[in-house]
Amino acid sequence: MAQLWGGRFTKQTDKLVYNFNASISFDQKFYKQDIEGSIAHVRMLGKQGILTEEEMQAIVACLKEILADVEAGRLVITDEYEDIHSFVEANLIDRLGDTGKKLHTGRSRNDQVALDMRLYTREELLHVDALLKELLGTILHIMEQNTETIMPGFTHLQKAQPITLAHHMGAYFEMFKRDRLRLHDIYERMNYCPLGSGALAGTTYPLDRAYTAELLGFYGPTLNSMDGVSDRDYLIEFLSACATIMMHLSRFSEEVIIWNSNEYQFVEIDDAYSTGSSIMPQKKNPDIAELVRGKTGRVYGALMSLLTTMKGIPLAYNKDMQEDKELSFDAMDTVKGCIALFNGMLATMKFNRERMRASANGGFTNATDAADYLVNHGVPFRDAHGIVGQIVLYCIEKGIAIDDMSLEELKAISPVFEDDVYEAISMETCVNKRLTVGAPGKEAMEQVIAAEKKYLEEE
Ligand code: ARG
Repeated sequence: MAQLWGGRFTKQTDKLVYNFNASISFDQKFYKQDIEGSIAHVRMLGKQGILTEEEMQAIVACLKEILADVEAGRLVITDEYEDIHSFVEANLIDRLGDTGKKLHTGRSRNDQVALDMRLYTREELLHVDALLKELLGTILHIMEQNTETIMPGFTHLQKAQPITLAHHMGAYFEMFKRDRLRLHDIYERMNYCPLGSGALAGTTYPLDRAYTAELLGFYGPTLNSMDGVSDRDYLIEFLSACATIMMHLSRFSEEVIIWNSNEYQFVEIDDAYSTGSSIMPQKKNPDIAELVRGKTGRVYGALMSLLTTMKGIPLAYNKDMQEDKELSFDAMDTVKGCIALFNGMLATMKFNRERMRASANGGFTNATDAADYLVNHGVPFRDAHGIVGQIVLYCIEKGIAIDDMSLEELKAISPVFEDDVYEAISMETCVNKRLTVGAPGKEAMEQVIAAEKKYLEEE
């Protein structure tokens, strides 16, 4: 048991207590951030004359060595240490002797862990953002190729009006774009350095917190030392953004699962992204989409867990906060894995354009346009709605689509119909007449695609 404290104790820590308290099994995940933070801290101590130039140089060089040794597998992080902070400090002292003992001057593990977690989360946030950008690229590519791919749009999972595949994909583009914007907002708020907050009340050493913050790429130091050690808002915000990303991925997954079903056959998931059944030879299952949908619960769980952990903690640091890590790490790994796999599945998925088109033809997706035709010929909308309702009933009885009715049949229900109705209610017209901003019409869609393309190039 290697720990950083003990002077005031007369007994050894009970083994079970030690294990219960220890965090090395999971906080070793940010060994790199811990060492980076220590290097910045020591540089600052050197600059301020709190350590001599030689001491500073020696500690920095040794910390770099420890980092290299860990990365090369020459130095193994074991549970002989209480946490990653103790591991690094103990190894530094082993190698440097008394000089190593000066590392922790003007610092507490409270501000140290606050820094480590923030540095780690900041990197993860940028990874998630980069993955989302790739996913947006895939979606945009599908959009560009499918501005004329007609498919049914649904409400209540009932066929509603014809849209295009580009339009449907465009909805997800907007969602994931907002997810990125959320991440950028969070980054702006979280990018302040808690190091130098001490245990809770700052320190008496003349630390230059602005300098440490600058070395670590922060906008500046946090402005209240009690808040600095006990703020986990940024993590809650990030988990909330992750939960929203997962909610979007889960909806998309649900659609892929439906579209991939035998009944729909709108898409075919690539063999590389499907799995088989051990008993039913004909099966090709959408497991990746199902797993993404399923894993959404884990990420929600992490958010709820941290909110609950934080809600009763008095200022400033309390050990409860150690619980911020395991679930957050799991959530971050989960969200990264899900975006990457979903992206791969989407990029290799085949869209069955004929099936989509045939499905749009059935289900009276042009009923609204038939009513609009009547309105354009002077029939009040409420009457037109009733007339088309009758037409639909007639078609259901005969098992045909509106377009299959002869002009005589149509005229028998409303004399207003003329020959041009067929053109007016064709799927192409239904889609391409919808030209308001954000609508599926080809020209409207192309404008959006051009704007989103520019956004992806710039952001
Ligand atoms: N492992 C601790 C955590 O994750 C590090 C901070 C320990 N501070 C303390 N006063 N015991 O929160």
